[in-house]
Amino acid sequence: MIRSIITGVGGYLPEKILTNFDLEKMVETSDEWIRERTGIQSRHIAADDQTTSSLAILAAKDAIQNAGINGEDIDLIILATTTPDDTTPATAMRVQAALGAVNAFAFDVQAACSGFMYALSVADKFIKTKTVKTALVIGAETLSRIVDWQDRNTCVLFGDGAGAVIVKAEEISDQDNASGILDIILHSDGRLRDLLTTTGGVSRTKTAGFVHMEGREVFRHAVTNLSNVAQEIIDTTGIKLSDVDYLVPHQANLRIIEGTAKKLDIPMEKVIVTLPHQGNTSAASIPLALYEGVRSQKLKKGDLVLLDAMGAGFTWAGALIRL
Ligand code: UT7
Repeated sequence: MIRSIITGVGGYLPEKILTNFDLEKMVETSDEWIRERTGIQSRHIAADDQTTSSLAILAAKDAIQNAGINGEDIDLIILATTTPDDTTPATAMRVQAALGAVNAFAFDVQAACSGFMYALSVADKFIKTKTVKTALVIGAETLSRIVDWQDRNTCVLFGDGAGAVIVKAEEISDQDNASGILDIILHSDGRLRDLLTTTGGVSRTKTAGFVHMEGREVFRHAVTNLSNVAQEIIDTTGIKLSDVDYLVPHQANLRIIEGTAKKLDIPMEKVIVTLPHQGNTSAASIPLALYEGVRSQKLKKGDLVLLDAMGAGFTWAGALIRL
């Protein structure tokens, strides 16, 4: 039996930091409001000459180095983003060229904040069907480019960044304790697309538009969907929740993370939280949380990790991985 094993994790955050106090000078808001309602204190913002691909390339190089491989070893690159460099070709093509990943095929996936989970699921399928042996999966965003910096309802929430993982095929015999992706469950509900959307798009308005969100409604659905899909993946895999070492949730709002953890009866000490200094980096948020977990030595080889995402669409997803 083949499993997809994560062998390297990488991340990159732009140098420029925008604090809540900086935002106080831009819109009618306060550090106190942002911290109390979201848990966010600061976020990273891409420099003018940085794009989603330049962030992705740095995260990917980090993951490649940590996995001990070369660009030519990669068979597949999937990049999840809502903020591509160009309308076409895919941002993944720029990453492929920069990495010298000449043996790979590459494409983008768009599933908003669940994008990394969708991309990881696709990579897992390509590996399990023996189409590829080594995949690079990236979540990368320059959300600052589609945020309306005059809209206090949204501009305080988002940040830029990129996270990446190398996933490799490995033949396993002992299914119970072997490392790898146990399962990933994906969900969507397009009927709710207007609750979190952009005010434009290439075909509709010939623009990229700006982020628009019905925050309270999204919040309500987020806690329900995140806890339901987490429970669903626990039931599907037959794993006990008490055996999960860490929850790695999408980082949108600390109250959402705490609410989900509470519903699942997972103590906050077992939750990776990057939100205070990164904000919501959409598709980059889960791989950046994995990166932080590994970097801080909280996440260790053999740990059972529950990934949990929710975003525009709506899209939501859960995954169980043994590191
Ligand atoms: O990544 C995809 C998933 N995204 C999410 O999950 C985000 C989900 N939503 C949220 O995180 C929260 O709904 C927000 C953080 C966006 C908003 O928090 P809230 O507690 O739901 O606030 P609210 O929207 O109900 O607004 C409460 C008040 C309003 O004023 P009134 O109408 O009560 O007078 C807002 O106008 O807070 C006001 N407000 C602000 N005040 C200061 C909204 N944004 C701000 C702000 N600073 N930045």
